Parts: sequence; C-alpha cells; structure tokens
Amino acid sequence: MSNVKVEKGVKPYAEAYYKPDMEPGNDYILMAFRITPGPGVDIIEAASAACAESSTGTWTEIDREISERLPSYVYRTDGNMAYVAYHPELVEKGSMSNILSSLAGNIFGMKAVDGIRIEDMRFPEGIIKTFPGPAKGIEGVREMLGVYDRPLTGSTIKPKLGLTAKEHARRCYETLRGGLDTVKDDENLGSQKFNTFDDRVKYTLEMVQKAEAETGEKKGYWCNVTAGDTEEMLRRAALVKEYGGRFVMIDFVVAGFTAVASLRKEIGRMGGLALHGHRAMHAAYDRVPYHGVDYRVISKWARMAGLDHIHVGTGVGKLEGTRTELEERLEILREDNSGVVNNMCFEQPWAGLKPVFPVASGGLHPGHVPVLLDIFGKDSIWAFGGGVHGHPGGSRAGATAVRDAIDGVMKGKTLDQIARQSRELKEAMEIWAEVKF
Ligand code: 3PG
Ligand code: 3PG
Ligand code: MG
Repeated sequence: MSNVKVEKGVKPYAEAYYKPDMEPGNDYILMAFRITPGPGVDIIEAASAACAESSTGTWTEIDREISERLPSYVYRTDGNMAYVAYHPELVEKGSMSNILSSLAGNIFGMKAVDGIRIEDMRFPEGIIKTFPGPAKGIEGVREMLGVYDRPLTGSTIKPKLGLTAKEHARRCYETLRGGLDTVKDDENLGSQKFNTFDDRVKYTLEMVQKAEAETGEKKGYWCNVTAGDTEEMLRRAALVKEYGGRFVMIDFVVAGFTAVASLRKEIGRMGGLALHGHRAMHAAYDRVPYHGVDYRVISKWARMAGLDHIHVGTGVGKLEGTRTELEERLEILREDNSGVVNNMCFEQPWAGLKPVFPVASGGLHPGHVPVLLDIFGKDSIWAFGGGVHGHPGGSRAGATAVRDAIDGVMKGKTLDQIARQSRELKEAMEIWAEVKF
C-alpha cells in the first residue's frame, strides 16, 4: 500500500483507486502505463492519481459514492508499469476525441508524474463496435487496384513543396507509367499559392486516368484533403470524388480524430473511396520513451477511426523505429485478434473491423526491397519519395527500378540478378546500395 505523505485537504488517491484484488471484466477499458513518479510519489499513488483524474476523482475528496457507480481502479503494478481498468461507461462510445480527453487527457501534465506513457490500451468489443473501422481495408484496396499477389507500391511526389499543380500532375503520370500502383501528395501539400488544391486534383486525376488508359492497370492518387477547417476538408473530398478519384488522404494526427470521423462518415456516404492516413507530428507523442503514447496505441485508434492505410515507419529508412515495434504495429493493423503473436501487453479483439494496410515510407529506395519483404510481407504498401524521383533517369525510370526490383524479388531473385536485366535498377543501385537489416 502507498505510504505517501500529502498536503492538508489533499487525499491520497490510492485509498480509493488502488484495488489489487480486483480482476477487471472483458467489458472494461484497460490501460498499461509506464510511469516515472514525481518526487516523493510512489508508483501506486502516481497510477491511482492518473486513474482518479481520468475517471470520477480529482485532487481532493469529492463524492466518493459516485466513484462506486462507475468503478475504475489500478489493478496491478509491476516495476514502473501500472495497469488500470476503466469502467466503459465513463466514455462516449464512438467518439475517439471523447475517449482521449477522458483517458489520455489531463494525466500527461500531472505533478504526480515526471513522465507517463501509454504503452497499450485494450478496448472492449462493446466500444470497438461503435467505431466504423476501414471502409475498404486490405481486401477492398487490393480490389480497387486489381493487385493481389504482391505488396502495393506508392510514391510521394518530390520535391515535397515547390512544384506547380501541372508539374506535380506530370510527375505523377511519369511515376505511374513507370509501373507504380499509386502516387500521393506529401503531408504538407495543402492549397499553397504555387499549387492550389483545386488545380492539383483536377490535373493529377486527368493524368492518373491517362496512365490507366495507357497501361490497362488501375492506378491510385492519394490526394491530401487536410484543410484548415472540416467544411473545407469535406469540400475537397467531394472534389476528389467529382473528378473520379478513389483515395483521399488526411494528416490524421494534426487534423485530429473529430476531423477523421467526419471524413470517414463522408466517405461512407459517397461510397467507393478509401482513406489514407499520414502520421505527420506523431513523434511528438510517441518518441520520448518515458512519456506520451506508443505508436502501437495510435495504430489502434487509427484502425477504429477507419483509416484504410496508415504510415507505420520502415525500420530501415530515414525514420526511427525498431523491427520489434514494427511487428507489433503490423499485428495490430492486420490481425483479427492482435496481441497474440508477439505477446504484447493486451489481447485486442477487433470485432470484425477490417484490417488496415500498413504503409512503409520514409527514406526508401529500391535497395530496400528484399528487406522490406522480409519485415512487412506481402500485405503492405511501400511508398518511395526521393528513392524514385531522385533516380538519374527521372521519375519514370525510378518507378521502373522499384517495380522491377519487386517483381524480381517476389520471384526469388536477388537485386544483382534483377539489375542484369533492368537498366533502371542497375542505375539506381549505383547510387543506393542494397540495405540489409
Ligand atoms: C481541468 O480540466 O483543467 C481539470 O479538470 C481541472 O480540475 P480541478 O480544478 O479539479 O483540478
Ligand atoms: C512521406 O510522406 O512518406 C515521405 O515524404 C517519404 O519521402 P521519402 O521517401 O523521400 O523519404
Ligand atoms: Mg512526406
């Protein structure tokens, strides 16, 4: 039991919120916290403070009997880990914003902790079922592109800022003609003066349709509809649909889950569209090891909210992230019941929410193809920016180098063997060597 000394009028939280004898039922929301307690505070008291703040308590004694109506408690601690169970009726079902304000709201700034990190969350089926999940999921997006037997390919058009709408559209066309399945806007491309949204969507989708007609393949353009307000975001999504586009993209961390929910609803209403999630700014939440939210948890929120594909890191490119972390994210996004294979903190039943396509992106080039297949397997999307558009032969040659590498590696060939038949890959490998894990 906690032995913390507290100021006059300030109640030790553990008295009411630490219940190691309780075993939460399947209908409870569970959270696993890594806690660095504040000075003079122990883990039990710190975890109980977090539990109180996110449920029925506050810093002083108040309406103790009300906490009996919606019991929430710390049920276990282990070193600096604390496990907390929250009554499911504390939150508004179907509202990720409400869930986060409740359970991940004030706790990060409490003096009772020097650091607190959400390592995992387990949502009960009763809450999972109030979220839409992806409209298309892995199977649906494969159908949209007519590709079933290999990873899907994509490319972020580079340079990320500066191209006019027409230059951007032309680069998309070259990339698709080179053999990639999809192209995408960069996360910070909105409606700038040099490349307005309305011009870009019109020109680019014309070029996508031209590439489709010429290759006989289905192609995709993940068009970034993130805007300054929700109304404008939805107007942009409607424009994508009007011009025959089938993918919209949102910067889901910065736009927030209310915006994601509005966009997901609109997509359901319009029909035929899939939703791409870019994670710009995620590392402000998930990179500090003792504070914030692990990306495995953000991946759960993204699947519930209904993103069809999300960025998960690469393990090998320009962005941080270990292979084990990636494996956990892949399991959360792709399995029906995650947390089993890798024995992560909590088992998560997905109650029929479709699986999400994980997207590897950030510093990738054709020399990464064998290791990407090893880490990500077939049910994933690999997006190349500089590793396509930085090819000495230009975007089309860069795309061909990637496509040749993938087709060859899927047949069991090495990059050296493929490069003997592919001039584009040979040129790419002269700049970017093969990367092994
Ligand atoms: C807040 O949201 O700022 C807190 O709920 C304030 O509540 P308190 O005055 O009870 O700390
Ligand atoms: C992205 O948005 O995924 C990145 O901009 C990828 O770009 P890179 O492949 O040039 O790192
Ligand atoms: Mg980018």
